[in-house]
Amino acid sequence: MLGQRLILVVDDEQTQRQTVAEVLRDLGHEVREADSGRAALDIVRDQAVDLVVTDMRMPGMSGLELLQECRRLRPDVAVVLVTAFGSIETAVEAMKTGAADFLTKPVDLDQLELVVNRVLEMRRLVRENRLLRQKLEETREGLRLIGASPAMAEVMDRAARAAETDATVLITGESGTGKELLARSVHELSPRAMEKFVAVNCAALPENLLESELFGHVKGAFTGADRDRPGRVAKAEGGTLFLDEIGDISPVVQVKLLRFLQEREYSPVGADTALKADVRVVAATHRDLQKMVDKGDFREDLFYRLRVVNLHLPPLRERREDIPELAEHFLRRYAERYQRPVRRFSAEAMACLMAQEYRGNIRELENLIEQAVVMARDVVIRAGDLPCNRDEAPGAKPPAGIEDVRGDLPGMLEALERRIVMDTLAAFDGNKSSAARHLGLTESGLRYKLNKWKEEAGGEA
Ligand SMILES: Nc1ncnc2c1ncn2[C@@H]1O[C@H](COP(=O)(O)OP(=O)(O)OP(=O)(O)O)[C@@H](O)[C@H]1O
Ligand SMILES: [Mg+2]
Repeated sequence: MLGQRLILVVDDEQTQRQTVAEVLRDLGHEVREADSGRAALDIVRDQAVDLVVTDMRMPGMSGLELLQECRRLRPDVAVVLVTAFGSIETAVEAMKTGAADFLTKPVDLDQLELVVNRVLEMRRLVRENRLLRQKLEETREGLRLIGASPAMAEVMDRAARAAETDATVLITGESGTGKELLARSVHELSPRAMEKFVAVNCAALPENLLESELFGHVKGAFTGADRDRPGRVAKAEGGTLFLDEIGDISPVVQVKLLRFLQEREYSPVGADTALKADVRVVAATHRDLQKMVDKGDFREDLFYRLRVVNLHLPPLRERREDIPELAEHFLRRYAERYQRPVRRFSAEAMACLMAQEYRGNIRELENLIEQAVVMARDVVIRAGDLPCNRDEAPGAKPPAGIEDVRGDLPGMLEALERRIVMDTLAAFDGNKSSAARHLGLTESGLRYKLNKWKEEAGGEA
């Protein structure tokens, strides 16, 4: 029932120890034995022991001392103490220091089984709970929308206000700008947060399948429909229905969707009755729906129904000031996921990230960082770990701007320093305090360098 566990039985008295060990083996556990606290600790140190059952009174290290050492060494190992009948008070004291339970001598074997099962079960629950909490944290972290740029702050503010209502929301923006993430946060911020968020990718299905996917079908509606099947609308009851790639739906489905948005009523494919639905709709598209309306490819009435609230996510290249925080966020995520010791970016790496074009927006940035985390050799991600500066790997030609100081290492280093500083500054659109922060300099330190270079260049730099 509990699966096999590794249990360590500790007692200097051989017969007593063997009896207990045997009972536990009969219960299906793997059992090790130790005749002293010292020997026990050696085993706890090296092996994945789940539970220690130890006698209290032993020569050398007592059971209590063993308990304390175990707590220090491996806090997740459970310890059960076995005491002589008279010393229950000590046992109670031991419980306060972290023993999982205690047994009195002579050990009743049924009691032993009971206590061991209970302690192992408890331990399993605690672990499971910790895992679940970790997962929850990850989900929460994954749902976090990052972006302090004015453009993002405004979108998020509007999203939060729209979330309080049942208004239909249309999210627009280039591919990879975070449309789906924003749709999820609208749901999370809404009074429907405890209900389901159901996503449908409208571009992934052909017309007839999309209709039955959304609205369901009745038995016999088409060949292969051998029973009634509810659609996604029904699955989202009480919650939020996310229609992704809404610009890709056919004229026929557009009509059905319009009716649904107008009346919150729909008919499953093949049914002649209408069903009611309590569903909040959020739609998204990377297409320019207005243009599609103008060209007659998208119904104007549907367009207005969808766009009660329009949230537009600007492309990443128009809000570069969000790059550092996003980059740090993805660095933490992937360092955690791949268990890599990577912690930060070098100034050149950050300058390189700032300078990218990002046709693929945040998704592209995320992919860059995921790859860099995997490739990084130490705690710092360097420009060489990113695709931008491949040419600058050791041995390649010297970076531009330092050829004129060839043969003069200090001069080369200064020229290089100057270039890094200037690039960083450019990447932050000349914002000195942001550039200084990313270079690990104080703002006045940065100003000092800039002034010095300016003077050296005769006031022209
Ligand atoms: N503001 C943000 N903060 C943190 N992560 C973000 C943000 N925006 C997007 N992401 C992440 O970037 C990736 C792409 O986002 P998402 O899938 O929401 O984009 P999309 O606009 O739906 O793209 P597509 O049009 O290609 O479907 C996801 O991993 C998402 O978690
Ligand atoms: Mg998407």
